[in-house]
Amino acid sequence: MTIPGTSTELVGKRVRLRPLHESDFDEWSEVRTRSREWLLPWEPRPTGAPYPPEDRASFLARCSMRERERQLGTGYGFGIFAAARFVGEINLSSIQRGPFQNAYVGYWVDQLQAGRGYVPEACVVLFHFAFEELGLHRLQISIIPRNRPSRRVAQKLWLRGEGIALRYLEIDGRWEDHVRYAITSEEWAERRDRYVRQWLSGPPTFGRSSLPLGPRGF
Ligand SMILES: CC(C)(COP(=O)(O)OP(=O)(O)OC[C@H]1O[C@@H](n2cnc3c(N)ncnc32)[C@H](O)[C@@H]1OP(=O)(O)O)[C@@H](O)C(=O)NCCC(=O)NCCS
Repeated sequence: MTIPGTSTELVGKRVRLRPLHESDFDEWSEVRTRSREWLLPWEPRPTGAPYPPEDRASFLARCSMRERERQLGTGYGFGIFAAARFVGEINLSSIQRGPFQNAYVGYWVDQLQAGRGYVPEACVVLFHFAFEELGLHRLQISIIPRNRPSRRVAQKLWLRGEGIALRYLEIDGRWEDHVRYAITSEEWAERRDRYVRQWLSGPPTFGRSSLPLGPRGF
C-alpha cells in the first residue's frame, strides 16, 4: 500500500480520473449548469449561497476541501475526463480506517455523455485504486430505488445488494430510502479479471507511473 494522496491521476481504457483544479472551472460550470435539472432529483439540495457553478470562489473552496481530504486520506474526489473533455465526477468519501476500512462511492455524469458506460468504467478504475492502492476492505454505493440508470450501473458491476436503508440520505430536500450496494476486497479479487476483460479489455492500458501495477499486469 502506498501513502494515501500520492496517486493524483488514474487512467482507464477511455476515462482519466484526476482532481479538479481552478483551471477546470469554466468547463465544470458549463456542464453543471446545463445538467442542473438532470442532477437535481439525485443530489442533496445545495445549502446556502453562492451556488458553486455560478461562483469561481466557491468552486475553489470545494477544490481546496477535496485536496485537504486527499492529504488526510479521508476522501478522494476526481473529475472524470474522456477524450480530454470533462464529463463528470466520481469520489470516495468518508473513508474510515480501523476495523471498518470502508468508503462510500458517489458519481454523476454530464447528461449529454450518459449511456456511454463512462461511469461504470470509472468505478472499476476507482475500485482498483481503493482496494489495491489504499488497501480498503469495503466500498458502498447507495442508490434511491427509483434511480434505474444508477441501479443498472450497480448491476453491470455485479455489486451485492444489501437491502434498503430507510430514510437514509437527504436528497433534493427529502429523506430518501436507498438500496445499499457493496463490494469487499475479497469479491474484488475474485472478479478482478472479469472487470479487466469487460471494462479495460486488451493489453494493460491502465496505470499511471505512481499506480502500482498488480502481478497480473492490471
Ligand atoms: C447514473 C449515471 C451516473 C449512469 O452513468 P452512465 O455513464 O450513463 O452509465 P451507463 O452508460 O452504464 O448507463 C447506465 C444506464 O443508464 C441508462 N441510460 C442510458 N442512456 C441514458 C440517458 N441518456 N439518460 C438516462 N439514462 C440513460 C440505461 O439504462 C443504461 O443502461 P444500459 O447501458 O444497459 O442501457 C448517470 O445516469 C447520471 O449521472 N445520472 C444522474 C445523477 C445520478 O443519478 N447519480 C447517481 C446517484 S446514486
